[in-house]
Amino acid sequence: MQFQTAVIAGDGIGPEIVREAKKVLDKVAAKYQHEFCYTDVLMGGASIDVHGVPLTDEAIEACKASDAVLMGSIGGNTSTSPWYQLPPEKRPEAGLLKLRKSLNLFANLRPAYLYDELKGACPLKDEIIGDGFDMMIMRELTGGLYFGERGTVEENGILTAHDSLTYNENEIRRIAKRGFDIAMKRRKKVTSVDKANVLDSSRLWRKVVEEVAKDYPEVQYEHMLVDNCAMQLVKDPGQFDVILTENMFGDILSDEASMVTGSIGMLSSASLNDTKFGLYEPSHGSAPDIAGQDIANPIATILSAAMMLRFSFDLDEAADDIERAVKSVLAKGYRTVDIMSEGKTQVGTTQMGDLIAAEI
Ligand code: IPM
Ligand code: MG
Repeated sequence: MQFQTAVIAGDGIGPEIVREAKKVLDKVAAKYQHEFCYTDVLMGGASIDVHGVPLTDEAIEACKASDAVLMGSIGGNTSTSPWYQLPPEKRPEAGLLKLRKSLNLFANLRPAYLYDELKGACPLKDEIIGDGFDMMIMRELTGGLYFGERGTVEENGILTAHDSLTYNENEIRRIAKRGFDIAMKRRKKVTSVDKANVLDSSRLWRKVVEEVAKDYPEVQYEHMLVDNCAMQLVKDPGQFDVILTENMFGDILSDEASMVTGSIGMLSSASLNDTKFGLYEPSHGSAPDIAGQDIANPIATILSAAMMLRFSFDLDEAADDIERAVKSVLAKGYRTVDIMSEGKTQVGTTQMGDLIAAEI
């Protein structure tokens, strides 16, 4: 079959990690006789440099015309890059937010998983790691503080800024359903995270999640306050299966969860809407400090491509194949520098891509 993918290489290490993911996809295409067609799309700093804006309408249309979007990462060094001299709505990140909103990508899935082979990189003590952990952060992606009314005003010489956190019940219900659906395919547990002891938006969140939970009697669910969740993630990460939460809390908790695995360079993500369409990107950022040095870990992007095959193209077997290839390369002892440990063989970005492609 033929599949159309819009490719946003982006900034920093984006182009080199996407190149390796495409290398692996090409191998999959040959083995399973599919055709993956790519359309390059500019976003973030790369788009600012050419068009003066982080995302053009044409770029959005090119994504909409595809079956899925594969993305590297966007953004630069916020202290030194000229992109951050621009007004906020013209900076690289604004492009990503606009794309999420335009494509209605409300459901962000961020798996945080402890690889057996990489236990040594986990910063937690052995007794906390226990049997390991495997959780899915389900983050609402098109509402809340990121998209609420905001502004900065000066009154009587005093600058005041505000950002509003708004959710309606429909926005909460659709992400909650997604969270419970995913839990049904996993260990059937949902931890809904909020700040209901303070925020009205969280009290509505809790009420709607409780209603949705009634339709999933097999799923064990609980509510947890976000500050407690931040603590539990380092105290007992094994207790979590699906963590369901709003946009800002999900941004913060997903970084924490991925750091706890010790291998943020390994974690993929998917941003989905109501259809089969999705945007797939590594959970990590653009790491401008190491760009172009052939040391970035391409695995998170390669695994994001596997998620794309699974969720948007229904190619489960090929997705399994990529995941197996990654594990096999790790089992043979190959590591990029971020996950390197004693006695293993250090390889660069390109070689890691070659090794994984060779296993397909
Ligand atoms: C993420 C990133 C983005 C976010 C930034 C780049 C706008 O941190 O995907 O987690 O805050 O959502
Ligand atoms: Mg983030």
